[in-house]
Amino acid sequence: MKQVITLNINNQDYEVLVTPMDLLVDVIRKTVGLTGTKKGCGQGDCGACTVLIDGHPELSCIKLAVSAVGKKITTIEGIANEDGSLHPLQEAFLDEGAVQCGFCTPGMILSSKALIDRNPNPTRHEIKTAISGNTCRCTGYINIIAAVESYAKAVAEKEAK
Ligand code: FES
Ligand code: FES
Repeated sequence: MKQVITLNINNQDYEVLVTPMDLLVDVIRKTVGLTGTKKGCGQGDCGACTVLIDGHPELSCIKLAVSAVGKKITTIEGIANEDGSLHPLQEAFLDEGAVQCGFCTPGMILSSKALIDRNPNPTRHEIKTAISGNTCRCTGYINIIAAVESYAKAVAEKEAK
């Protein structure tokens, strides 16, 4: 049976009509219309559908929309600056040439952001671990790791001031 639930996405409440089995990724993309979140494998293997839930990376293709009620969901659209300009981590991905087809990029960025939000000075191993659930079909891992390191360095320098 369908029910109306409220999802908080990028600090905005959305009332959506869902069935108990509707997946979060589908509601975000099709009902709410935030298509930055990608759907790849649809079975928890590729990380393309990663969103942050209460700051933690979660795979929205294996999560029911109803399970996200009362939580704060962040999609790639939600990390831009208030004036609409790109988040510095997004800029770092562009600067380092870490975006090829771009399909993995939203998930990569959200997984990386969650890491640096809790650990501003990660080792390369910690970065690799943080994005280990995100698959890049274009095999751009070297540049992706360089982008995350570059952003982490900028954050660390800012905090040291
Ligand atoms: Fe969710 Fe691949 S689409 S893990
Ligand atoms: Fe194409 Fe990663 S840039 S999948």
